Amino acid sequence: MDLNGSTPDDGADLAERAAWLRAELSRHNRLYHELDAPEIPDAEFDLMVNELRRIEAAHPELAVADSPGASIGGAVSATFAPVTHAVPMMSLDNAMDIEELRAWGERVERALEGESITFVCEPKIDGLAMSLRYVDGELVSAATRGDGRVGEDVTANVRTIADIPEQLSDAPRIFEVRGEVYMPKSVFEALNEAAESAGERALVNPRNAAAGSLRQKDPAMTARRRLAFWAYQTGEVVGGPTFTSHRSSLDRVAGHGFPVNPRIVTCATIDDVIEVCQEAIAHRHDLDYDIDGVVIKIDDLDQRSRMGATSRAPRWAIAFKFPPEERTTTLLDIQVSVGRTGRATPYAVLEPVFVGGSTVAMATLHNRDQVRVKDVRPGDTVIVRKAGDVIPEVVGPVLSERPAGSTPWEFPQHCACPLASEFVRPEGEADTRCVEPACPFQRDQRIIYWATRGAMDIEGLGERTVMQLTDAGLVADVADIYRLEIAEVEALEGFARMSAEKLVAAIDDARSRPAWRVLTGFGIRHLGPAASQSLARAFGSVRAVLEATDEQRAAVDGVGEVIASSIGQWFAQPTNRDLVDRLERAGVAFDVMDGPAIDSSLPATLDGRAVVITGTVPGLTRDEAAAAVVARGGTAPGSVSKKTFALVVGDGAGASKLTKAEQLGVPIVAADRFSEFLESGEVPNNASGAGV
Ligand code: IVH
Repeated sequence: MDLNGSTPDDGADLAERAAWLRAELSRHNRLYHELDAPEIPDAEFDLMVNELRRIEAAHPELAVADSPGASIGGAVSATFAPVTHAVPMMSLDNAMDIEELRAWGERVERALEGESITFVCEPKIDGLAMSLRYVDGELVSAATRGDGRVGEDVTANVRTIADIPEQLSDAPRIFEVRGEVYMPKSVFEALNEAAESAGERALVNPRNAAAGSLRQKDPAMTARRRLAFWAYQTGEVVGGPTFTSHRSSLDRVAGHGFPVNPRIVTCATIDDVIEVCQEAIAHRHDLDYDIDGVVIKIDDLDQRSRMGATSRAPRWAIAFKFPPEERTTTLLDIQVSVGRTGRATPYAVLEPVFVGGSTVAMATLHNRDQVRVKDVRPGDTVIVRKAGDVIPEVVGPVLSERPAGSTPWEFPQHCACPLASEFVRPEGEADTRCVEPACPFQRDQRIIYWATRGAMDIEGLGERTVMQLTDAGLVADVADIYRLEIAEVEALEGFARMSAEKLVAAIDDARSRPAWRVLTGFGIRHLGPAASQSLARAFGSVRAVLEATDEQRAAVDGVGEVIASSIGQWFAQPTNRDLVDRLERAGVAFDVMDGPAIDSSLPATLDGRAVVITGTVPGLTRDEAAAAVVARGGTAPGSVSKKTFALVVGDGAGASKLTKAEQLGVPIVAADRFSEFLESGEVPNNASGAGV
């Protein structure tokens, strides 16, 4: 991982950074969930998620919706036929700690007052939910969860899983068995060893490997991946016994030959449940499959039906998620990365350590003061913490193990680039900067930034390729990329004719991006996509924005003096003026406009109203759902407060937002009524208020 590409560059412009992180996270989410083709390791993704969360937590005004890093399920991908589930595949609410688990226990007890309750605790398998449908004892379809209503037909691939019977004897006429397809850790390790000796790319983690295996076009490939299955639920059952308890349904499922996890236990009280959860935390790594929590379900099916469900999750179950894990490792070194505007960020180089589900070899240390406060020193044994989807963090040193004679780490005085330019820390600022505009580290980061999704969005022009192009002396700034010839790219290592042609075509295609993207792509300090959009709209072209006075720019809504003068300073530099001329000569459009954020053709049904969205709205990404609110005049902050007009709740919603909404009496809108809500601006009638 190269931290130059993924650490904040300009601490002052958080709005810009947050927008960039959102765009990148959505892209990586899609690559991971829908295309099974992650470009970055989980740890790097996690790093970005946490950075965004920190920004949004500290500046709620910048939050547009939930952090895109929070588990967004994938939409249905186009490759496999859609299957509509006879009974929707619901998601689960999460309890992030014991307190939230107790709160759920209390809700259950209130709802079933005076009744005796049996809880079933099951390992929460970190794989892929699967619904297996048997008709007259024959396996007829295997479908992924998809959005809960419609999944993907992966029957041919699932037939290769040895744990899953093709035929059942004495089965109900229709019998749906649901559970988790996973790749055993031992299989994952063996496949990776084989890949390594064959010089092939390694699989990222077992969950990802399982997802990729299920989406193979050739079932023979899936068969080689040796996937496995744990059954944990029944779906539609017709013409069979009426079960009265979950346990009895699982016994029946096991009787038909499905693997049912032997660690499933029943508990009579929430205290016993908590004990089971603590046991599971202690033993999670002793198993041959990844688990990321414990699912707790009410056993009695009549009690379940009386408790019911919200549109996204049953009230009779909860997923207790494991807390962040901590491990110790050696801090090998502290290095400094330099970003596009010269911000110098220290980061820890660690003896790789497996923590929180992935191997961590680096972690950001944020800035000079953070290193001083933590007083971590190369050679120290340090505590590293990571939750499943959160960035790895160096908590601090283990002082008892500090080598004798160690001295505090000193921030280097010079950039490690060939120019060895001086690092400067301006008075009163947290950040240290490399102030040499010719610094090759900054140059590379500027080009990488130009090509990112949030700016010019040039496919295939990622960090690695940019480094290759600058190393080969083919590109020294963003204007140079438009002169690249196919033969030049083809000569680079790892490029064939086709990929060289593709890259040059992608660059060509990006010549006509909207003006705000060009402005954003310059990477001017403080100027992010939102202000770029306002400016482009107000002035009509890139050149008009650059040539306006600071006062004219500052008069634009959402811009202000800091941004206005930062643009002025940038454009006053002869190298930047020259760059702008060369881009224009290279045919980069400067006056393309795209749609406004607030759509004046739509009625402003949510004018001035804060709508918080949690979980997934069917058919929309989080950003799209937030944009739909904004388009109608509303705002879409990331957290619930007294001022929240409504909380929109979809699959994978966070329990804490719901609890907060309950406490504050904020009305809840089910995600499947989102469009109705947008249209009317009213909370739909039968959507409940507090106490869903
Ligand atoms: S029950 C209505 N049981 O967790 C109940 N889910 O976060 C639906 N999962 O989509 C699920 N282990 O993929 C259930 N023992 C277990 C589970 C389990 C893993 C997954 C499943 C589900 C997700 C919800």
